[in-house]
Amino acid sequence: MRPGLAVVLVGDDPASAVYVRAKAKASEEAGMYSITVRLPAATTEAELLQHVDQLNADPSIHGILVQMPLPKHISAEVVIRRVRPEKDVDGFHPVNAGKLLNGDTDGFAPCTPAGVQELLVRCGVKTKGAECVIVGRSSIVGKPMAALMMQDRPGANATVTVCHSRTTDLAGHTKRADILIVAAGRPKFVTGPMVKPGAVVIDVGINRVDDARAKRGYILVGDVDFASAREVARLITPVPGGVGPMTIAMLLKNTVRAAQLSAGLA
Ligand code: GUN
Repeated sequence: MRPGLAVVLVGDDPASAVYVRAKAKASEEAGMYSITVRLPAATTEAELLQHVDQLNADPSIHGILVQMPLPKHISAEVVIRRVRPEKDVDGFHPVNAGKLLNGDTDGFAPCTPAGVQELLVRCGVKTKGAECVIVGRSSIVGKPMAALMMQDRPGANATVTVCHSRTTDLAGHTKRADILIVAAGRPKFVTGPMVKPGAVVIDVGINRVDDARAKRGYILVGDVDFASAREVARLITPVPGGVGPMTIAMLLKNTVRAAQLSAGLA
């Protein structure tokens, strides 16, 4: 059988368009059946839900991903709830979020945190008993990342702290981290002096910063100040090219599993 992935993009956010193209390309290169549904920014919530329903009912599609963020007039929550949990390869549906928190492995974990965990495992980073500090509490990264790292299973078993915009003494927390995962959505937010010597630093951020010298007029930077943090960290991920490709790899993995599950093979 051929796993099928549908990627839905509403509107013309330039960064989202880049991500969607990368996801479609990767799934095609892996030999999957791939469709991209591009809808105008003025699409109504009802129209988008109709597309989701159609994909839910399509037996050639095993995974559905609606690229975030959606235009302001559409409720992301309503759309996410409409995707059948068995096709929710993004792991955003409350059923999958609940399974992740409960340690039930038959759901889908969100791709970015799952990719971060895979990266740690493949790089031989010891997570058991480690102090893992996460900066950011979003539903896409921070919260599921915490759920993954605190689980009682290999590649996890960490002691997890979640910091956010209301945290007092942020540096006091980050400096304790053996594993520091930053998903704050602010360019170069975490700097070298905030990192514990020898720590493993995972930068989930990707920000466009204006730069007149750059060909496109902007450069991509992470949420970590790479130049100062690399002097202190033992291992650190670059932006771009660090976590991003892992997110896509986990999307393909989830889609293959969704296809297997649909055929009673997993
Ligand atoms: N926007 C930022 N990250 C993601 C992701 O992993 N999936 C989707 N659908 N939208 C995103």
